[in-house]
Amino acid sequence: MSRKRILFDTDPGVDDAMALLLALASPEIEVIGVTTVFGNSTIAATTRNALNLLHFAERADIPVARGAARPMVLPLQRTAEHVHGDDAMGNIGWHDVLDPNLKPIEVPAAQFIAETIMAHPGAITLLAVGPLTNLALALQLEPRIVQAVREVVIMGGSVSMPGNVSPVAEANIHADPHAAAMVFNAGFPLTMVGLDVTMQVKMDDNDFARLRAAGRFGKFVAQIAPFYQEAHRRRYGYPNGQIDTHDPSAMAYVIDPTLFEGEHWSVVVATEGPAQGMTIADRRRRFLDTPPVNCLMRVDAPRVAQLIVERLASV
Ligand code: BDR
Ligand code: CA
Repeated sequence: MSRKRILFDTDPGVDDAMALLLALASPEIEVIGVTTVFGNSTIAATTRNALNLLHFAERADIPVARGAARPMVLPLQRTAEHVHGDDAMGNIGWHDVLDPNLKPIEVPAAQFIAETIMAHPGAITLLAVGPLTNLALALQLEPRIVQAVREVVIMGGSVSMPGNVSPVAEANIHADPHAAAMVFNAGFPLTMVGLDVTMQVKMDDNDFARLRAAGRFGKFVAQIAPFYQEAHRRRYGYPNGQIDTHDPSAMAYVIDPTLFEGEHWSVVVATEGPAQGMTIADRRRRFLDTPPVNCLMRVDAPRVAQLIVERLASV
């Protein structure tokens, strides 16, 4: 089996951490680099967490490139420590790098993304699970990545679900709507793993109990989860420690796309006002002429949840 080579662009983040560990536990995937972005916390915190996660996973050989500290046009509006904890890792006390030798590479994320994609034409899947700033900056640096990338998969946006940071916007798109607009307009072979599917795939106390009794990855995920579970209970009233599995579901799509079904629609992003960050899909295929995006709308939720839990329990 040839493994999919992925660049993982992320703002870790509890669910980002789950997605990264899921990738490292999956034989279908080879993570060739991690790029960081502001989002769930500051760029300093998300970069520290990426370095610490790879150290914990004994994969410090995977390069980490530090990325954008703020959106392209707007000022930095909000980070999400209220959802992910003060350390953005469920308050496990990750306030420093675990090993002083852990450092990001010299090259900034956007340049690393552009150079890596151009060095391996047709081979790289870019999975972005944070604000899309690094990818938009990479596009400005090297527009030919649109043709050279194998596939771009993003966790973000929504076609039919209400927003999670405003009535209409999902957090990653809302955080840098100008970057998202550039990415949606560019013509990438693009799949949007939005709230339409990620809020269908739940994990709950039973899953975390199973992970707690499993190996290193499982135990770690069970350790970082409680704060995130409590945030879901407060925000949505979910019972039984349920969470939405945003970023791990996007990784599950990269691992096994047959678990999902999408529709190809043009999508535009509102960049300002009360609709900031809204992803507007032309479901009648009549009104917009921007490049079609594979918007995932259906998911075999039990099988995706099972994939996530079994893989995380396996290491
Ligand atoms: C997205 O926002 C972040 O808080 C999560 O990590 C996920 O990428 C969900 O809207
Ligand atoms: Ca994220």
